[in-house]
Amino acid sequence: MVTLRLDDIGASYGRKLLVQGVTTPAFTCGEVVAVIGPNAAGKSTLFKRIAGLLRGPGQVHIEGVKQEQDAVCYMPQDTSANSVLTVYESILLARKQGSSWSVGDDDLKYIDETMDALGISGIAFKNIGELSGGQRQLASLAQSLVREPDILLMDEPTSALDLSRQMEVLTHVRSLARLRGMVVLIALHDLNHALRFADQTLVIANGQMITCGPSSEVITSALLREVYHVEARIEPCSRGLGQVIVDSVAEKGKTFTRLAAESCSQGA
Ligand SMILES: Nc1ncnc2c1ncn2[C@@H]1O[C@H](COP(=O)(O)OP(=O)(O)O)[C@@H](O)[C@H]1O
Ligand SMILES: [Mg+2]
Repeated sequence: MVTLRLDDIGASYGRKLLVQGVTTPAFTCGEVVAVIGPNAAGKSTLFKRIAGLLRGPGQVHIEGVKQEQDAVCYMPQDTSANSVLTVYESILLARKQGSSWSVGDDDLKYIDETMDALGISGIAFKNIGELSGGQRQLASLAQSLVREPDILLMDEPTSALDLSRQMEVLTHVRSLARLRGMVVLIALHDLNHALRFADQTLVIANGQMITCGPSSEVITSALLREVYHVEARIEPCSRGLGQVIVDSVAEKGKTFTRLAAESCSQGA
């Protein structure tokens, strides 16, 4: 069984430690974990540290993976590319990265299925450099999915997508996590998506982990006031799903100390 556990990890660019003290329970295969927090909180930095692209203190514990080398796949936030490859070629390359270059029927089938699920079969032979922002994001997502990683880190994968594609992508990733036994961490700004699609939510602010736990327990009015400085309500919709309704911007100047202290005392 694939598990991912972060043990007091930090991350730095050069000498400056920009993320610190991130400790989580073990996330297990099939779980989707939303990583939320304000702009510049450290979400992308945390992902780069987990993916091994940045150094820092602490331990990233990964167990039960097929092969250590390609266990973690990081889909970056910035998907701009100046490539001469077509969408199809870029996805095929991603699929074969780190393995033999012979292409089998199973490779082609998996690529077709993935492109179909993401609704990008129609742009298979377009040049990557000629795509819209949303199309580029979907192509980048396909490149990540065809690698079939055990642990997938998706950095704001829906930020350039329209409403229906956001739903398609998140629904697909949600079911793929269960079907393929992946652990998926997904940085999100839409907290309703976190409530709907993520089993757990990890909150990061000012480079520090504030809390981590079941999404419906973590995303509260108190947390939103302290972390995002907004007055908000979380109310059930007619289908019983929690919905975040933001009423106003709250006074700034509060510290994160209380929530961080609570999170420590719960051993989160
Ligand atoms: N390449 C870099 N060099 C130095 N500092 C960086 C670099 N990238 C990001 N940072 C800084 O790290 C902090 C966290 O950034 P980031 O992880 O990108 O935040 P988020 O993804 O939560 O918006 C910010 O203060 C940002 O300015
Ligand atoms: Mg980011």
